Amino acid sequence: MKISIINGPNLNMLGKREPQHYGVDGLEQINKEICSNFPDIDLQFFQSNSESAIIDHIHNLAVDFIVINPAAFTHTSVALRDAISSVDIPFYEVHLSNVHAREEFRHKSLFSDKAVAVICGLGKHGYTAALEHIVKNN
Ligand code: DQA
Repeated sequence: MKISIINGPNLNMLGKREPQHYGVDGLEQINKEICSNFPDIDLQFFQSNSESAIIDHIHNLAVDFIVINPAAFTHTSVALRDAISSVDIPFYEVHLSNVHAREEFRHKSLFSDKAVAVICGLGKHGYTAALEHIVKNN
């Protein structure tokens, strides 16, 4: 099974960025832990701060599932929503923080109605929870 894990803008700053919301681990550390938890899955990691780079990446994917934290694009990017709809790959939406307990502009997601599931507020465990669900159900 092949799974793409995509992280959007500013998530390269994890570990340094607002640890009260996003935790103390960097993205590399989180990705390493995910790899060691799922040694039998072909995992592909991608992070970009650029909307167009993420869109191009999604267009070229050949995977069974996507796990995506669209970060700020969650609340703004019709283009990214359209990209993920255009490839017909089931996806899980993950947020480290509980976006519903934060500013109102974070309550709206342009992805959730299309997602298999939405996980938020579990910190880095959200990625693992999504992958566990994929493994158990496929
Ligand atoms: C986030 C929540 C978003 O509102 C925010 O813009 C992010 C990260 C999260 O993982 O909690 O960058 O997606």
